Amino acid sequence: MNAESWKAMDSYLEDILCLRDPRLDAALARCEQAGLPPHGVALNQGRMLQIFARMAGARRILEIGTLGGYSAICMADALPQGGKLVSLESNLRYAEVARENIRVAGLSQVVDVVVGDAGATLDGMVASRVPPFDLIFIDADKKDNPRYMAAALALSRDGTVIVGDNIIRGGRLMDEAGRAQPDVLGTRAFLADMARDLRLTCTALQTVGAKGWDGFSLAIVSKPA
Ligand code: DHB
Ligand code: MG
Repeated sequence: MNAESWKAMDSYLEDILCLRDPRLDAALARCEQAGLPPHGVALNQGRMLQIFARMAGARRILEIGTLGGYSAICMADALPQGGKLVSLESNLRYAEVARENIRVAGLSQVVDVVVGDAGATLDGMVASRVPPFDLIFIDADKKDNPRYMAAALALSRDGTVIVGDNIIRGGRLMDEAGRAQPDVLGTRAFLADMARDLRLTCTALQTVGAKGWDGFSLAIVSKPA
């Protein structure tokens, strides 16, 4: 098995499960045209996030790292009437592409893209006591993941689901060389923090597919009344 066969298998799954969505195709095309890095979630991963949102009964979703809005569209599709997805993005150009993708997808009323340093935005949200989120997707600069997890916990309630993207980094997570790389250090600290925090029941899975060898963490928050 190699990257080509993982990719072919993802295509097969997309076809047999009829996962394709013209709005997502259009969003991806706009991301590519705008020269955004190819770091969006895969189509089958996007559907998984959508199912997680439904499983969590999410009415409020927080995304840290919007990029072109692809995963935001996937998750927002799971929201009931009156639901809200807040997505944080530090890069104004990415945010503009995302807003256009979200507008064309008919989700402008549902998704708020907040531009600025995510750490600062999160601090502001905690300070202003915004209502807790039901699902939180952490998918920004991996070096800052420990900070994002701390903020996610502060913005959660009993039962909040927290998903962390890209925890395997093509295997670099375990490489000796990776230990000097900021994204690997951030990811390792993020996983260790999760394990230590008694409010979290957590796991992590590695994946292969169109996006190579990667994976995600999954945690649920316990905050008994
Ligand atoms: C990278 C970041 C992502 O969020 C992703 O999904 C894939 C890759 C990266 O920084 O390399
Ligand atoms: Mg990602």
